[in-house]
Amino acid sequence: MDYLEIEGSQKILGEVAISGAKNAALPLLTLTLLSRRPVKIDNVPNVADVRTLLQLLENLGAKQSFIKNSATVDTSDVNSTFANYDIVRKMRASILTLGPLLTRFGHCEVSLPGGCAIGQRPIDLHLKALEMMGADIDIKQGYVIASAPNGLNGANIVFDKITVTGSENIIMAAALAHGTTTLSNVAKEPEVVQLCEVLNKSGTEIKGIGSAELEIKGSNGKLLDIPDFTVIPDRIEAGTYLCAGAITNSEITITNVIPEHLKALISKLISMGFEILKTKNSITIKPCAKILPTNIETLEYPGFPTDMQAQFMALCTQANGTSVIDERLFENRFMHVSELSRMGANIKLTSHTATIYAPTKLTGADVMATDLRASSALVLAALVAEGTTRIHRIYHLDRGYENIERKLSSLGVKIKRLSE
Ligand code: EPZ
Repeated sequence: MDYLEIEGSQKILGEVAISGAKNAALPLLTLTLLSRRPVKIDNVPNVADVRTLLQLLENLGAKQSFIKNSATVDTSDVNSTFANYDIVRKMRASILTLGPLLTRFGHCEVSLPGGCAIGQRPIDLHLKALEMMGADIDIKQGYVIASAPNGLNGANIVFDKITVTGSENIIMAAALAHGTTTLSNVAKEPEVVQLCEVLNKSGTEIKGIGSAELEIKGSNGKLLDIPDFTVIPDRIEAGTYLCAGAITNSEITITNVIPEHLKALISKLISMGFEILKTKNSITIKPCAKILPTNIETLEYPGFPTDMQAQFMALCTQANGTSVIDERLFENRFMHVSELSRMGANIKLTSHTATIYAPTKLTGADVMATDLRASSALVLAALVAEGTTRIHRIYHLDRGYENIERKLSSLGVKIKRLSE
């Protein structure tokens, strides 16, 4: 199994280009199930989650190719609607095949994704919404057995909680439904917006894009002419590299970004004393004399993203004072705390609140990655720790960060990928 070896106490410098957004690419890949024509998607990040989902689409009978960040998917010959446990357990976002398969074929069997390190991750809201659209849903031996032999019907749906993939599943289901669907309390993440924009360009009439209320006119079962398109930049990868600049108190520039998508975390970095310069598609962070503590509460977009919570916790260990982080979305998203503490961080936990007493001197150690974003927090801590850090089980990291060693080395980081 691979591990990363990182030399600490580094100043970094330079420019890094951000890849396409994993969490935008995944629903956009399952969207191809609604297309009558092959779809070419550019700026697709070459990460494990994307490769796994392309494999799942191929297992369903689709033809796919993925060369130099460009994926072409042709689902005209899809002949199976069975998404098996083996693939879904590796990549929970495979649940994003549920809405498209059901609305196109009238039936599907998709393995329950199961929980993961950060929480139980239920999909009750996805299933409830599909039932309101007329689907029969059964759970048998760990599989969702869904059927709607006459197709799905438009419905007026209010989500009890804001759910990103729940919103995406139902938006795609509604696109081929009979009649109009209204969605209230729908997620507003940039990846949900791009999904709606691509559907709009495919002839689906969607009103309210970017707001919490959507109205979607279904095609009555007709497949769509989905145009070729380019995936938006990854706002979480971008935020992670900004934190690399912040934690080493260095000047770095990230390019191929949409600064608007990072508003909440840029404002946090400014409140911690950093200077941030923005152009249309780049952000530069400049060092600050004294890193100030901060308080963070994770919220749905446009609030502070939960996917940046672990990275900011690593940064807060270097602030001059006590910070408090309140994780509001997931019940167990503090797996990085014990590993950061082994490197010298002083963090106290209550149920969903972490108090970070700082500044603390971090020292290199052998640490264990537990989930995608926790792993990136350990990389950040390793950059500023004294001595060498080895991060094990980095398959978690490979799920969502493209070429992380190459990108960090280009900033001057001494980092190696080795095998145990
Ligand atoms: C998406 O997960 C992202 N994944 C996650 O990113 C991200 O952390 C999360 O949204 C929140 O922003 C992808 O987009 C592939 P939710 P998702 O449904 O859709 C509860 C990463 O690091 N809920 O918005 O699974 C749920 O338990 C990953 O890239 C229900 O109760 O998250 C959670 O508390 C990690 N019932 C809250 O809603 C449901 O049916 C938000 O979950 C669905 C969700």
